[in-house]
Amino acid sequence: MVNSTTKPATGKLGVMVVGLGAVSTTFMTGVFMTRKGLAKPIGSMTQYDKIRVGRGADKKYLHLKDIVSMPTLDDIVFAAWDVYPVNAYESAINAEVLKEKDIEPVKDELIAIKPMKAAFDKKYASRLDGDNVKQCADRWDMTNQIREDIRNFKAESGVDRVVVLWAASTEIYVAPDMKYHGSIEALEAAMKANDTDHIAPSMCYAYAALTEGAPFIMGAPNTTVDIPAMWELAEKTRMPIAGKDFKTGQTLVKSGFAPIIGVRNLGLAGWFSTNILGNRDGLVLDEPANFRTKEVSKLSTLETILKPECQPDLYTDYFHKVRINYYPPRNDNKEGWDNIDIFGWMGYPMQIKINFLCRDSILAAPLCLDLVLLIDLARRAGRYGTQRFLSFFLKSPMHDYTVGEEPVNNLYQQYTMLKNAVREMAGYEADEEID
Ligand SMILES: NC(=O)c1ccc[n+]([C@@H]2O[C@H](COP(=O)([O-])OP(=O)(O)OC[C@H]3O[C@@H](n4cnc5c(N)ncnc54)[C@H](O)[C@@H]3O)[C@@H](O)[C@H]2O)c1
Repeated sequence: MVNSTTKPATGKLGVMVVGLGAVSTTFMTGVFMTRKGLAKPIGSMTQYDKIRVGRGADKKYLHLKDIVSMPTLDDIVFAAWDVYPVNAYESAINAEVLKEKDIEPVKDELIAIKPMKAAFDKKYASRLDGDNVKQCADRWDMTNQIREDIRNFKAESGVDRVVVLWAASTEIYVAPDMKYHGSIEALEAAMKANDTDHIAPSMCYAYAALTEGAPFIMGAPNTTVDIPAMWELAEKTRMPIAGKDFKTGQTLVKSGFAPIIGVRNLGLAGWFSTNILGNRDGLVLDEPANFRTKEVSKLSTLETILKPECQPDLYTDYFHKVRINYYPPRNDNKEGWDNIDIFGWMGYPMQIKINFLCRDSILAAPLCLDLVLLIDLARRAGRYGTQRFLSFFLKSPMHDYTVGEEPVNNLYQQYTMLKNAVREMAGYEADEEID
């Protein structure tokens, strides 16, 4: 390690997860199984990737933990909130993502994770009807109750630092509205006035996390921290934030494949993406208002990779459509189809078809681990506000849309941003240009 000013990862890292469903329990089970040497954390950048540091004769490819101080998986202590009262073991069994043989060896660890009462409002996810829910006088009270949960967890578990990760259901779409979301004062006033139309429960979790000194990650496409009030709060509390929406299956493929069309200067007439999905996430997303949140997130990917304003002959008016269909027999084993209509020399049309038979939570779990460890690294490195280097893991990366800032969606550019941020936090020079 060179001249890094990043604080070492001493003590335990508390990971408080909102939602104890398929993704969270797959994440937790994998961490526990890996600790026991019974599984491998495949797909996790923080556990596998080697990053080049130094140049020329001095260059070395090193694991993250050999570049900068990182917590080990043994250092993680979990807690969770959920609308349903079942513990992480029962929830993992119910989710049917993992086989029992991959859950049983860590049954005790999972049983010990009992969800705290959720800060929930049925209006935001009408298909859920659990009763493990906080009674709140208003949104301000909701926020204060979550703050108390965080303080209690810290005191009881003795963890050194906490990160809060949203892996709960997608809420209905909340359009950013500066009257309520434009500043901390406006947000607090809306919370105190119990403005349930503009203050989603997820905003209460984020506000509580930041004010209790915990970075916040939004793994669903919810608006939550993607508003000026939360950016301001993250600056004020000097906490890093990241979002939105884990980039796992179809959008990962899209953000990796679209650059092929772009760098070859091929034209795009249309891109149709559809999915079948049968888990609880699929059930919630079957509700049009909840799907709208996901649609906004999924649609944003192509616009910044294949830009009409840069190449009007190639990318003007392409038709981009995304669909998710709830289909119970498939449970978590999502199947995605992409039909891409492209055109080449003299405008001749061609088609590309991609059929991805994936497993949603298997793809999301390593992202949870990476996001949690990297946002903790960012905090230890003294970074705060939106962490753009985490865009690599996110479908709809946060950016300052109020000043026309563009998100980076191209997977390879995102990877460069990620490596450079790690180099800088480790005390090396960032040395790859994003072009
Ligand atoms: N798996 C993926 O590939 C992927 C990719 C991107 C985003 N996501 C998002 O991750 C989230 C989790 O996905 P999942 O498959 O685990 O869903 P899931 O339905 O299995 O789990 C979500 C859990 O959140 C709980 N919940 C809902 N609102 C809550 C609240 N206000 N407080 C506490 N708990 C609450 C639900 O009761 C449920 O148990 C979803 O929003 C999904 O859209 C998943």
